[in-house]
Amino acid sequence: MILEINQISKQYKGNVRALQDINLQLKPGIIGLLGPNGAGKSTLMRILATILQPTTGTVIWNGIDIRRNPDELRRTLGYLPQDFGVYPHLNAIEFLEYAAALKGLGGRLMKARILELLELLNLHHDRKRPLGGFSGGMRQRIGIAQALLNDPKLLIIDEPTVGLDPEERMRLRNLLTDLSGDRIILFSTHIISDIEAVSDQIAIITKGRLLTKADPALLLRKVQGRVWSVTIPDQEIQEARMRWTISGTVRREDGLQLRIVSDNPPLPHAIAVPPSLEDAYLYVRAFQEGA
Ligand SMILES: Nc1ncnc2c1ncn2[C@@H]1O[C@H](COP(=O)(O)OP(=O)(O)OP(=O)(O)O)[C@@H](O)[C@H]1O
Ligand SMILES: [Mg+2]
Repeated sequence: MILEINQISKQYKGNVRALQDINLQLKPGIIGLLGPNGAGKSTLMRILATILQPTTGTVIWNGIDIRRNPDELRRTLGYLPQDFGVYPHLNAIEFLEYAAALKGLGGRLMKARILELLELLNLHHDRKRPLGGFSGGMRQRIGIAQALLNDPKLLIIDEPTVGLDPEERMRLRNLLTDLSGDRIILFSTHIISDIEAVSDQIAIITKGRLLTKADPALLLRKVQGRVWSVTIPDQEIQEARMRWTISGTVRREDGLQLRIVSDNPPLPHAIAVPPSLEDAYLYVRAFQEGA
């Protein structure tokens, strides 16, 4: 099972270049798509979900060009769009039955599947409640449930953790881990802690370009020995922000303690500290963007 993304570019009307020459090969596992607002994450996902055509480039699903034959992929696709909307008057079961019907799924097996999914997503107690009264987290879970109706081999979820409280975030991460296996799961976020625990691979995009795709350990190695701690007087912070890539600040009695990502010690008394994925992300962005 393989999804090959070859030289994908997307230009929207008005000359917006949302994606430029994206090349990626996705295999079973969890791939976190990380990037700031406007990076092109949703655009890429919509192209992979066959609801948007790229300007140039091809997407090949198990050897089949999805432009020529989108049905092969659609059959086994689960997709949760970023702007997922629900019908407020339907209850959870009715909504999932409706979503199943749209996908051409139905029958007794599907009824059983819906109950199974409601259980899996911890919504079984709320299965008869109208969705209009659901919290943001519950709506996200309904969104994930509809994406799982056909037991997809390719699961694309766009910003699933937005609006979730810490406990729900954790539950979602566990769910993704449970769902992985013989499946490609691509999910996007701009929150690093969401993906560092669960992703087998992390793809970083900014300004429509893929900066890197690597496993988290490799990303950390990239920045090993390049993260420093220095303490500066409060009033020097402006200047420091212009000079260095700062991944964190902590106020202390003797000034501001900065975490700086830099190839060389930013100051003679800088102390090397163990890197985090946050540092790696900033490093990749600061030193590869525009390169
Ligand atoms: N339908 C559209 N028409 C024109 N421009 C668009 C359209 N959709 C997205 N864009 C632009 O394309 C770029 C990429 O947008 P996209 O939504 O893919 O980014 P994103 O990484 O998903 O951002 P976010 O984190 O905010 O969801 C942005 O500059 C955006 O303004
Ligand atoms: Mg988006």
